[in-house]
Amino acid sequence: MSDSSIKEIVREKYAEAAIKAGSGGSCGCGTSCCSTEGTAKNPVTSDLYSAIEAGSLPEKAVLASLGCGNPTALAELKAGEVVLDLGSGGGIDVLLSAKRVGPTGKAYGLDMTDEMLALARENQRQAGAVNVEFLKGEIEAIPLPDSSVDVIISNCVINLSADKSQVLREAFRVLKAGGRFAVSDVVTRGDIPAPIRKDVLAWAGCIAGALDEDDYRAKLAAAGFVDIDVEPTRIYRAEDARGFLVNKDLDVDALAAQVDGKIFSAFVRATKPGTV
Ligand SMILES: C[S@@+](CC[C@H](N)C(=O)[O-])C[C@H]1O[C@@H](n2cnc3c(N)ncnc32)[C@H](O)[C@@H]1O
Repeated sequence: MSDSSIKEIVREKYAEAAIKAGSGGSCGCGTSCCSTEGTAKNPVTSDLYSAIEAGSLPEKAVLASLGCGNPTALAELKAGEVVLDLGSGGGIDVLLSAKRVGPTGKAYGLDMTDEMLALARENQRQAGAVNVEFLKGEIEAIPLPDSSVDVIISNCVINLSADKSQVLREAFRVLKAGGRFAVSDVVTRGDIPAPIRKDVLAWAGCIAGALDEDDYRAKLAAAGFVDIDVEPTRIYRAEDARGFLVNKDLDVDALAAQVDGKIFSAFVRATKPGTV
């Protein structure tokens, strides 16, 4: 799989996901996106937000939620801060961040998929959020100046990039000194079988491209970050893995047992040093 073919498949799958969310359905991380897999709860994307958070947003922003955590709840956002969401999808975390940083702050969402940007902008309009801006672009080349952001959030997106080191260098560049990286992502622990790693649909489903926890720490440190922490928030068992692996060219029975407990959602934190 070349980097550009990964990006094209990811874009195609999340364009489909945006269209599905816009018409009231949902698919995303942990599924064969946009395949029909019955109504079983998705172990990755379900129950991430409180009823109060969900109730404060347009319904389609909640339906379009394709993340694997709730980074805004963990990021300790303060009034007046500038937040950037990498891979903002339908905009749920941008709209929640905008409420937390208030009218003196600003929340940016960045996404490469036109259909997702259209959905996010419609959700922004319905929410009446004015301290929000959705930008088109790639997380490997963030269209913002150096040292312009207080907090980077992201929800189940960095695993989708074919060049994670570049994403982390870009995150470091746009953060202000002392700025925080506060990201939910899928992470792995130990060997993941090669057929899963090579499966492009498992990549688009947020599994195949997930970094090992030690690699995540090493790449953050190489980009210049300090105070690095990878905290598991949900650990997926073999039964959950069956859901990730179905509808792909994979031997589900054999592989699900092999990844029991090795794939998890995590809250990944790091800081840009105060003086650089
Ligand atoms: C799994 S969805 C998560 C969306 C959102 N964060 C959420 O929690 O609902 C991944 C999103 O990241 C976007 N994305 C994936 N790779 C990207 C890249 N390299 N640059 C910009 N956006 C990307 C996709 O278009 C999609 O909207």
